Amino acid sequence: MMIVVMDVAPEVRILEDDDELAETAAGTIVDLATSAVAQRGRFSVALAGGATPRATYERLARPPLSELMPWARTYVFFGDERGVPPDHPDSNYGMAYRALLSKVPIPPRQIFRIPGEAADPESVATDYARTLAEEMKVRRGDVPRLDLVLLGLGIDGHTASLFPGSPVLKEVFRTVAAVHAAAAVIPQRFTLTFPVLNAAACVIFLVSGSVKAKVVKAALAEGAATLPAGMVRPTDGRLVWLLDRGAAALLPRAAGG
Ligand code: 6PG
Repeated sequence: MMIVVMDVAPEVRILEDDDELAETAAGTIVDLATSAVAQRGRFSVALAGGATPRATYERLARPPLSELMPWARTYVFFGDERGVPPDHPDSNYGMAYRALLSKVPIPPRQIFRIPGEAADPESVATDYARTLAEEMKVRRGDVPRLDLVLLGLGIDGHTASLFPGSPVLKEVFRTVAAVHAAAAVIPQRFTLTFPVLNAAACVIFLVSGSVKAKVVKAALAEGAATLPAGMVRPTDGRLVWLLDRGAAALLPRAAGG
């Protein structure tokens, strides 16, 4: 059997500002959710953390988009989490809950938080991997195919909690890993690994601000596989970069319109 690894070309869209970025991202999520439910009866998404996605979540929580989302058929996972309780200001779940999940009619049993506050990080990772497999109805050892993974980008090129130089970058079996990121404000982290990110039907990077322009250029450059964000290459799915003008400032003119 010959396996062909499709290296999809990233779709780069440059939006005027982070307002238009949020609007476009939220609209794209509704479109992907609607078609996933039409085709498979459900929509599975891994939410991103950090600050950038908040405006997108707030847009999704408001009409008209909130009324177009198939919430009853939507399953929410998290791309990564910090080692903090859900009510901590740095909790990715906490941010998503306040900006979106507490405001829309999604069944609570379809929201799968990573319990970052739990005592034993390795158990958190293995338990979440089991939850992901069970909810995505994949056999043990198989990699679940999420409909959508949302990601952010750190100025060091990290994405989710996949940091430069981390041994987890080489992970090929585990779908979820506990990570100690010495450079991060909250070093204890939990993250989906590349096998899951690159098995997704669609991955969307949300990046805004000129402070990210240098790393965006590096991550989209040929052979960017030295940066974690550059290693996100869905094998059989879409790769979309939604950027505002600031984040796209150093990209060649031709990129993204
Ligand atoms: C996290 C995120 C991380 C984030 C980037 C960008 O938990 O920190 O998942 O990967 O996306 O650090 O963060 P900002 O959007 O806040 O710039």
